[in-house]
Amino acid sequence: MNLLLLQLTLISLLFFTSTIADKTSSDPHPNFPCKPPHHNSHPFCNISLSTTQRALSLVSLLTLPEKISQLSNTAASIPRLGIPPYEWWSESLHGLADNGPGVSFNGSISSATSFPQVIVSAAAFNRTLWREIGAAVAVEGRAMYNGGQAGLTYWAPNINVFRDPRWGRGQETPGEDPLVVSEYGVEFVKGFQEVKETSQVFKNNDEKLMLSACCKHFTAYDLEKWGNFSRYDFNAVVTEQDMEDTYQPPFESCIRDGKASCLMCSYNAVNGVPACAREDLLQKARVEWGFKGYITSDCDAVATIFDYQGYTNSSEEAVADAIKAGVDINCGTYMVRHTKSAIDKGKVSEEQIDRALLNLFAVQLRLGLFDGNPREGRYAKLGTNDICSSSHRELALEAARQGIVLLKNDHKHLPLKKNQVSSLAIIGPMANNISNMGGTYTGKPCQRKTIFNELVEYVKKTSYASGCSDVACDSSNEFGEAVAIAKGADYVIVVAGLDLTQETEDKDRVSLSLPGKQKDLVTSIAAVSKKPVILVLTGGGPVDVTFAKTDPRIGSIVWIGYPGETGGQALAEILFGDFNPGGRLPMTWYPQSFTKVAMSDMHMRADSSRGYPGRTYRFYTGPQVYGFGTGLSYTDFDYKVLSAPTRLGLSEVIPQSSHKKLLLQNGEEQLRYLELDDLEVNSCESLRFNVRFSVSNTGEMDGSHVLMLYSRMPQVLSGVPEKQLIGFERVHVRSSEMVEAEFVIDPCKHLSLANDVGKRVIPLGVHDLVLGDLQHSLSLEF
Ligand SMILES: *[C@@H]1O[C@H](CO)[C@@H](O)[C@H](O)[C@H]1NC(C)=O
Ligand SMILES: *[C@@H]1O[C@H](CO)[C@@H](O)[C@H](O)[C@H]1NC(C)=O
Ligand SMILES: *[C@@H]1O[C@H](CO)[C@@H](O)[C@H](O)[C@H]1NC(C)=O
Ligand SMILES: *[C@@H]1O[C@H](CO)[C@@H](O)[C@H](O)[C@H]1NC(C)=O
Ligand SMILES: *[C@@H]1O[C@H](CO)[C@@H](O)[C@H](O)[C@H]1NC(C)=O
Ligand SMILES: *[C@@H]1O[C@H](CO)[C@@H](O)[C@H](O)[C@H]1NC(C)=O
Repeated sequence: MNLLLLQLTLISLLFFTSTIADKTSSDPHPNFPCKPPHHNSHPFCNISLSTTQRALSLVSLLTLPEKISQLSNTAASIPRLGIPPYEWWSESLHGLADNGPGVSFNGSISSATSFPQVIVSAAAFNRTLWREIGAAVAVEGRAMYNGGQAGLTYWAPNINVFRDPRWGRGQETPGEDPLVVSEYGVEFVKGFQEVKETSQVFKNNDEKLMLSACCKHFTAYDLEKWGNFSRYDFNAVVTEQDMEDTYQPPFESCIRDGKASCLMCSYNAVNGVPACAREDLLQKARVEWGFKGYITSDCDAVATIFDYQGYTNSSEEAVADAIKAGVDINCGTYMVRHTKSAIDKGKVSEEQIDRALLNLFAVQLRLGLFDGNPREGRYAKLGTNDICSSSHRELALEAARQGIVLLKNDHKHLPLKKNQVSSLAIIGPMANNISNMGGTYTGKPCQRKTIFNELVEYVKKTSYASGCSDVACDSSNEFGEAVAIAKGADYVIVVAGLDLTQETEDKDRVSLSLPGKQKDLVTSIAAVSKKPVILVLTGGGPVDVTFAKTDPRIGSIVWIGYPGETGGQALAEILFGDFNPGGRLPMTWYPQSFTKVAMSDMHMRADSSRGYPGRTYRFYTGPQVYGFGTGLSYTDFDYKVLSAPTRLGLSEVIPQSSHKKLLLQNGEEQLRYLELDDLEVNSCESLRFNVRFSVSNTGEMDGSHVLMLYSRMPQVLSGVPEKQLIGFERVHVRSSEMVEAEFVIDPCKHLSLANDVGKRVIPLGVHDLVLGDLQHSLSLEF
């Protein structure tokens, strides 16, 4: 052997061994369940058996201590069966986030696509977008799992209705309307959970899950910390009526239509009973809505039953109440610590623990966790290249473009014309700070560019001053520098609003005004700028910017919320007319005077007898800064009704035998409404009808437009909403062109409300269908 050959051999030998060594040391799943040769012969590893058979078999093999060790988000290993530990708690609200222990960016994957905060994507009113975001996050989740840096079970989406503008987590939700929240939840969950293989969705494989999504927080949860109230012991007093037509619909949809595999019960009590002990509500989800999956408590929400709420007299009773109500797993260690003694004291039985384990293992089985080596499974190919991919980052950019809302645009101040802007001044503490882009539950974004970074790409001569040292803006000491650059610039953009120091988990706001001296900053700049100022607002919660709305020195207002990692680019594209804005506010913006309403008051409906103005566009009767659905475009749209019925007869769907009863019950009076319970079984479908509209773009720019169809019901019982969204559709219309849009209306769902005992009823008489300025009357008759 000559020297050269020897050297080559040695080198290749070294190379070979080091590759082997790398492979073994970096295998993220050295011990997967059902690993051959010792652990693959258990019946629970047999993929020919059904999920139920496999779960039953696994539970039957466990000792009581082993069972109890599974009742925490951090489930212990069961070494004798070859089952490694499992972390149930991963987060993915708008991209993979490391708020839970399941996701870690400390490894070969150090970032993931950060989509806009949910309230921004919601403002796009685009179901396709929502579904695609869910699917993209799922691909990144599987890829991270393969890399050993994430779990398979995620605690998103947050589908509580954004009831009060001060709520620190309103930003995490799809807004205030139950229909929008429901549809967002369904699209996200389907996109996230559905099994995809070479981009083809397996329709016949309902049971298998790509990842598991969780509808949270069940239920009537939307207060963090306000006044003397804290989420850990807040008792939400909710009427049956509000429960049925505001708080519950998103959860029912998430389960029934989205087929979510997890439900999380919340910290708060609902009408005196802690949510995680509400057996009636949790069982309704399983029995009536067909929930198949596991129920987790929010973190330590079983502990709070006893420790904070004093609802039980002992820890054991708290554990027993939760398990008996239907909770399968506790985020935290409380159940692991107290279940044994709860069993010993006869508070709960081993059979009830078995039920919990069956639900838990069934979800793990559906995820393929017991199907063998993850390196050989369906998703084995997903890896680093699937995270922060150009398509995902483009989708994040698209979501921000579609969700950003133009609130004011006097005299077509925007868009700016690139070649006519010689210099820009950007002012505001958020304008050059990456940490404010994503809102809560943000992981490590793929790119780190601020608004300022992006605007510089459009206009080289762009200067920046923070104006305030931070968002709280307690001092005007730094106004001078900002005023100076504003005076010297052709156009001025002030970025004001909120960040997570003002609104976040465990923190509600007390004011709706801009924080600290921010308003003074805006007006000081507006006073010296050559041209009207462009005001950009950040934050998930509404702010009272009446002063800016009415000030002619402020030409335009743009809400960007928390636009995610590509938000700066999306904003720049919109300001310079490369993208025509079409987002619309998914929540009402109330004036500061709304803060006299107690945040703890859960009533949706207005009550004039006690000066209560009601909540959300459906019931609120007071003045508003910007209404639900506000959003301008650089072009104009015009609607026409193409077809819609004027009369709908309901007699056919009421069994003959009930006709007399219904009429008798009402005596002489005319029948005012029908209860859904009075309808023939499955008759709702036959009542469905279509309405068709045309939308013309009468302006000079192509653009997308969100059609929002409302119904106004006859006021034949108490608690009828002012109006109610019954359909929405985002359509793209080229300049001077027209498109058609069709809505399918299900009267049982869309033309109904809950009566004061929480029963769904359809009011009889004239319902107005309202689209923009158009109004179409439809008579419901019996
Ligand atoms: C798996 O289950 C099927 C169906 O019951 C059975 O026929 C087969 O023998 C089982 N395989 C193993 C390896 O036990
Ligand atoms: C990151 O991982 C390494 C290796 O596993 C570990 O030593 C280090 O403590 C981790 N760092 C953090 C911040 O978790
Ligand atoms: C908080 O409690 C104090 C003392 O009981 C009471 O004076 C105050 O009005 C309460 N605040 C709110 C917002 O309920
Ligand atoms: C707690 O103990 C008190 C006093 O013994 C009793 O009145 C009450 O019913 C108990 N509460 C529960 C939930 O068992
Ligand atoms: C960005 O904002 C965060 C949160 O307000 C703050 O902690 C941080 O100091 C800011 N960074 C810069 C560079 O101003
Ligand atoms: C809805 O979102 C999808 C995905 O981003 C996009 O392709 C489509 O153009 C959007 N529709 C409209 C009308 O903007």
